[in-house]
Amino acid sequence: MTPIPVILDCDPGHDDAFALLLAAAHPAVDLLAITTVAGNAPVGKTALNARRVCTVAGIGGVPVAAGLARPLHGAGITAPEIHGASGLDGPGFGEPAVPLDPRDAITLIRETLLGHPGPVTLVPTGPLSNIAAFLLAHPELAAERVDRIVLMGGSTGRGNRTPAAEFNIAADPEAADIVFSSGLDVTMIGLNVSHQVPASAEVLTRLRALGTPLAEVCADLLTFYGAAYREVFGLAAPPLHDPLTVAHLVAPGLVSTVPAAVAVELTGTHTRGATVVDLDGVTGRPANARVGTGVDAAAFWDLIVDAVRTLGARGPLTG
Ligand code: BDR
Ligand code: CA
Repeated sequence: MTPIPVILDCDPGHDDAFALLLAAAHPAVDLLAITTVAGNAPVGKTALNARRVCTVAGIGGVPVAAGLARPLHGAGITAPEIHGASGLDGPGFGEPAVPLDPRDAITLIRETLLGHPGPVTLVPTGPLSNIAAFLLAHPELAAERVDRIVLMGGSTGRGNRTPAAEFNIAADPEAADIVFSSGLDVTMIGLNVSHQVPASAEVLTRLRALGTPLAEVCADLLTFYGAAYREVFGLAAPPLHDPLTVAHLVAPGLVSTVPAAVAVELTGTHTRGATVVDLDGVTGRPANARVGTGVDAAAFWDLIVDAVRTLGARGPLTG
């Protein structure tokens, strides 16, 4: 089977790091480019973190470019209480051996689409600022060359940044609105799914048992992330949101989805950034997305552990 060509647009971020690892390791994905956006940390840090993850995981030859430093409107938000000041606290990282691509993220997305013979899948795991800016700048190219968008964001129920809004959508609601209104094939995997994949103590044990430096880094990442989730949300184990996107691509059916109309709340007094998902069809609006509802958690964790095993066996990049 031909691997699925993917551009990962992320804000690493502990869970973004695992999305990157899965996309790079799985034979069903051809990871063409990595773009980063302001989100969990400022964009300079998310770009550095992507390069750090690529270095420690031996991912060479995939361009990494930085994108928007702020949302389309207003001021940005970050999440140091979950991801630390660096955006990727926990393990120690050396100097990255992977360079920062001189192009900005929008240019890299454009040139990657133009340079690839067939349609490409966009996988956003951060605020949707880069993706929306790309859609605004190059609508025809997007319609022609974007196969689908599989994003982590939103929720069919409660939020995490506010009681109503999930972080990625809350960080740039206007961008999310542009993506959901784009007419492209959009799949939304939100908190209602990701809270079904907590990184348990058993997962940590499986990772450490792999015995490679990469596995140790991954376990250290999850240890920091788990402590933050315990502190902030009182959860026993932290949901590993972002790699569900890649898992859904490589193992269709692993995440169950339903078609639904999704609206992004742009003006609510207490609900700005909420995804209003019409699961019951009560609005009469046509479906504009496939929305994740369930997940085979055991299969998901097997994919994650396999990815860390595969990359760990190859070893890190050296400068
Ligand atoms: C999302 O917000 C970020 O903090 C995570 O990386 C994930 O993309 C979860 O709400
Ligand atoms: Ca993220």
